[in-house]
Amino acid sequence: MNDRFNDKVVVVTGATGGLCSEMVLGFLREGAKVLALGRSEDKLAALTERVSGAGYDVERLLCCSADVLDRAALEAARDQAISRWGRIDVLVNGAGGNVAGATTQQEMVGKDGDLSGTFFEMDMEALDGVVKLNFDGSVLPTQVFAEPMAKAGQGCVLNVSSMATDRAITKVAGYSASKAAIENFTRWLAVHLAPSGVRVNAVSPGFFVTEQNRFLLMGEDGKSPTPRAEKILAGTPFGRFGDAAELIGAVNYLCSDDAGFVTGVTLAVDGGFSAYSGV
Ligand SMILES: NC(=O)c1ccc[n+]([C@@H]2O[C@H](COP(=O)([O-])OP(=O)(O)OC[C@H]3O[C@@H](n4cnc5c(N)ncnc54)[C@H](OP(=O)(O)O)[C@@H]3O)[C@@H](O)[C@H]2O)c1
Repeated sequence: MNDRFNDKVVVVTGATGGLCSEMVLGFLREGAKVLALGRSEDKLAALTERVSGAGYDVERLLCCSADVLDRAALEAARDQAISRWGRIDVLVNGAGGNVAGATTQQEMVGKDGDLSGTFFEMDMEALDGVVKLNFDGSVLPTQVFAEPMAKAGQGCVLNVSSMATDRAITKVAGYSASKAAIENFTRWLAVHLAPSGVRVNAVSPGFFVTEQNRFLLMGEDGKSPTPRAEKILAGTPFGRFGDAAELIGAVNYLCSDDAGFVTGVTLAVDGGFSAYSGV
C-alpha cells in the first residue's frame, strides 16, 4: 500500500456523494484519517458501512453531519477532529452541485424571438442558491479548516471545479458561473496562502455517472444515453463517462507531498473533453 497519507488528517465535504465517497476510500487506502462531512445522517451511516465493508478500520473515519453553509456546524466538526487526531492536513471541498431553478429549459433562445424557457425566466433565488452552495460552500469550509493549516505552516486545499467553466455547457448557467468562480478563487487563495506553506489546487472532473445524475444521463432504464449524454460522449475523445475511481490518482497526487511545489492549478480529469474542439 502507498502510505502517502499516514498520520495525515483529511477533511472531505460532500463525502457521501458519488465522487467524494470514492475519495474517502482513496485517502483511507493511502493511510489517512478522514473527517467525512455530509448533511444526511443516513448517508453518513451508509458511508461508514461501506468503509468497514472495504476492510478499513472505522476508527480512522469520523463522520459529522454539517451543512457547508453553517459555520458553527463546521467549527464543531473541526474541533472534534482536532481533539481526536490533533491536526488537519488536507481539505477537499467536494460538496456542490446544480440547483434546478438556476437552469434554463431551453438550450438557446428561439430564432423566431420565442424567449419562453430561456435565461429571461431564470429564477434569481435559485441562482443565488447555486452560487451559495458551490462558491460560499467552498469558501466557508476553507476559512474553518485551512486556518489551523496556515497556523501550522503546512497543508493543502483541493477544490472541485467542472467542465462548465471554460466553455459554455447549455442550460446550467448558475452552476457554471459558480464553478468558474471556484477556479478563480483557487488561484487567488493559492497566492494569498503561499507564504504559509498551504497549497490550493482544484480538480475539474469531466462527466462521471453517479447515482444523482444517472437518470439525466442514462435515461429511465439506467443504461441508454439520453440525447444530452450522446452529445457529451461525442465531445469526449475517450468516448465514455468517467468512473469515480479514476479521479483518485489525480486527487491523491495533488493532496500529497508529491505535489509539494504545485499550487494554484486546476487539473482536468475528463477523458480529453476540455482539449477537444469537437472537430
Ligand atoms: N458527477 C460529475 O460528473 C461531476 C462533474 C464535475 C464536477 N462535479 C462536482 O463534484 C462534486 C461532487 O459531485 P457528485 O456528482 O459526487 O455529487 P453528489 O453525488 O450529488 O454528492 C453531493 C454531495 O454534496 C453534499 N451536499 C450537498 N449540498 C450540501 C450542503 N449544503 N452542505 C453539505 N453537504 C452538501 C451531499 O450530501 P447530502 O446528500 O448529505 O446533503 C453529497 O454528499 C460536486 O462539487 C460537483 O459539482 C461532479
